[in-house]
Amino acid sequence: MTRKLTIAIDGPAGSGKSTVARRVAAMLGYVYLDSGAMYRAVALKALERKIPLGDDAQLENLTRETHIDLKAPTAEQEAAGLKNRVFLDGREVTHEIRTGEVAQAASRLATIAGVREVLVAEQQKAGEGGGVVMEGRDIGTVVFPRAELKIFLEASPETRAQRRWMEHQEKGEMLSVAEVLEEVHERDKRDRERKVSPLVRARDAVLVDNTAMGIDETARLIVMLAKERNKEATR
Ligand code: CDP
Ligand code: CDP
Repeated sequence: MTRKLTIAIDGPAGSGKSTVARRVAAMLGYVYLDSGAMYRAVALKALERKIPLGDDAQLENLTRETHIDLKAPTAEQEAAGLKNRVFLDGREVTHEIRTGEVAQAASRLATIAGVREVLVAEQQKAGEGGGVVMEGRDIGTVVFPRAELKIFLEASPETRAQRRWMEHQEKGEMLSVAEVLEEVHERDKRDRERKVSPLVRARDAVLVDNTAMGIDETARLIVMLAKERNKEATR
């Protein structure tokens, strides 16, 4: 492939966006960018500073004065399953941002227009030039509405909760599947119903339901679609 495309992957929590996007980027030699990690990093900072999650003005200011870096993991970290490394004002927070508390705070913060404006501008800057796979909730609709390939990744709520539960188990966090399902359900509802940039499938996004598909199979399908788009674009 010669032309470097922009690939947008959106979908609800646990649908496989990070894992699949990371794999697609590796297969194509593209950069992988996890936009959700940015919302999570600002959320962590807000929690640490005990800023009320209802104080929109203060949270917007906090976002403006925050510096987030997304870096690729080392080969060893990658082999251990790490998809990216996240730095908040220079401090590594890769693991701290992966808690249920931070996820919930991120989804509340993500309802604030001013916060989104700042992070969307950073995402657009990070992805300019193409050759990127960016995943999140509004990548195909707001961040890169002209992306050459848009995927809306889905999986049944039970499957998504089961996948998240497995991750908690592996970290030694003993939550029940019902608790995880509740967390995922609450966040999805907020993400889909918020006024600014809700989670919706862009009209030109390909819907991929990977409930019964493995990571490899899903990534290969997306790479096939990318190759097709590339051929169309250079025709
Ligand atoms: O980023 P998102 O919340 O959409 O999902 P993820 O973190 O990429 O995936 C959640 C979990 O599901 C990970 O542990 C993946 O390995 C797993 N997964 C899977 O088992 N089968 C798939 N087809 C996709 C993801
Ligand atoms: O990994 P998971 O799918 O559970 O969540 P995430 O992608 O890390 O995103 C955490 C939260 O950030 C989501 O629940 C959304 O509220 C928000 N988010 C967003 O609003 N827009 C994005 N482009 C990415 C994340």
